[in-house]
Amino acid sequence: MIRLRPDLAALPAYRQGRIPDAGERVFKLSSNESPYGPLPPVAEAIAAAAADVNRYPEAAASALTEAVASRYGVAPDQVVFGGGSVESVSQVIRAVAGPGDDIVYAWRSFEAYPLLTIGAGATPVPVPLTADGRHDLPAMRAALTDATRLVILCTPNNPTGPAIPADELGEFVASVPPEVCVLLDEAYLHFQAGQDAGAPDADPGVALLREHPNVVVAHTFSKAHGLAGLRVGYALASIEVADALRKVAMPFAVTHLAQAAALASLAAYDELAERVASLIDERTRVTDALTAAGWELPDSQTNFVWFGLGPDTAAASEVFAAHGLIVRAFPGEGLRVTIAEADASPLILAAAAELVERGLTNGRHRAG
Ligand SMILES: Cc1ncc(COP(=O)(O)O)c(C=O)c1O
Repeated sequence: MIRLRPDLAALPAYRQGRIPDAGERVFKLSSNESPYGPLPPVAEAIAAAAADVNRYPEAAASALTEAVASRYGVAPDQVVFGGGSVESVSQVIRAVAGPGDDIVYAWRSFEAYPLLTIGAGATPVPVPLTADGRHDLPAMRAALTDATRLVILCTPNNPTGPAIPADELGEFVASVPPEVCVLLDEAYLHFQAGQDAGAPDADPGVALLREHPNVVVAHTFSKAHGLAGLRVGYALASIEVADALRKVAMPFAVTHLAQAAALASLAAYDELAERVASLIDERTRVTDALTAAGWELPDSQTNFVWFGLGPDTAAASEVFAAHGLIVRAFPGEGLRVTIAEADASPLILAAAAELVERGLTNGRHRAG
């Protein structure tokens, strides 16, 4: 038996949201995916790129790099692609931290952060969210020590939903020593109020990167662009940091199908923005109805809602399942429910009403 790294024994494997069985009539609301298939020009670009799968992709992804750089007004050398933004997060972690180094992030947040941190041999420093599911920035600032190499801010936050207000974000970043990297994970930014479905000049992370070379911004094509299955994301960073990210990047992680699809999706931005706007409308309908029904939930700026059901989580997950909804349960903490197909929304509201009837609310519902 070969000797494995002992620190991996304590590490849980990444858990994917449940995938429906063949023929099962359910809505999969467990992975914050887009309910929309590819836009026609995107599907055509993927089909055309399929003819070249005998070749390796162009590692530099030059056309896509140019498109992203000009969209955000940065130099092409500041853009580094990865196989999904989870690889971008991994690149940043491995470029700045190793054994003996601390990585500070809010918790609960994206579950890959502890896995990737421990995978790199670094030490996770999770800082609890506030009661309303927000980053506790003063506590995060207080958690920084000489051992800290990276702070990850997930805004808007997965799985709770709130975004960090721009002024608080700016103050926090300005307070971090310049040798400590600040990674802004903006996977859900398109869904945030005031972002105009991802309009580049409204991007808070990109604005901060211009002033602070220790900032790295991670974006993905998986959520608003609906290309989760193709695996493409990227980091925007100072040229020095971007060079380091390229050194630790997985070679050829972004296939040319993914590159072609992402390029076509950027070009079809107006149609994409309409889809995002309709998902935001759906979220507003669902969250307004939940609030009107007495639920007190965190302010979602994403394509999902969070029910912090604590000990009621497992039973509540069964209730959602009985309504034909596969949701993401974090045992003992809460349920995350993706807002996707409009037909699923009445089922979400019906399941939530049943939770109230059965007293499975963990105090998140105003009786009355
Ligand atoms: C906050 C956050 N960041 C990054 C990712 C990674 O997305 P991808 O690797 O598909 O780009 C996810 C996926 O769920 C996420 O929730």
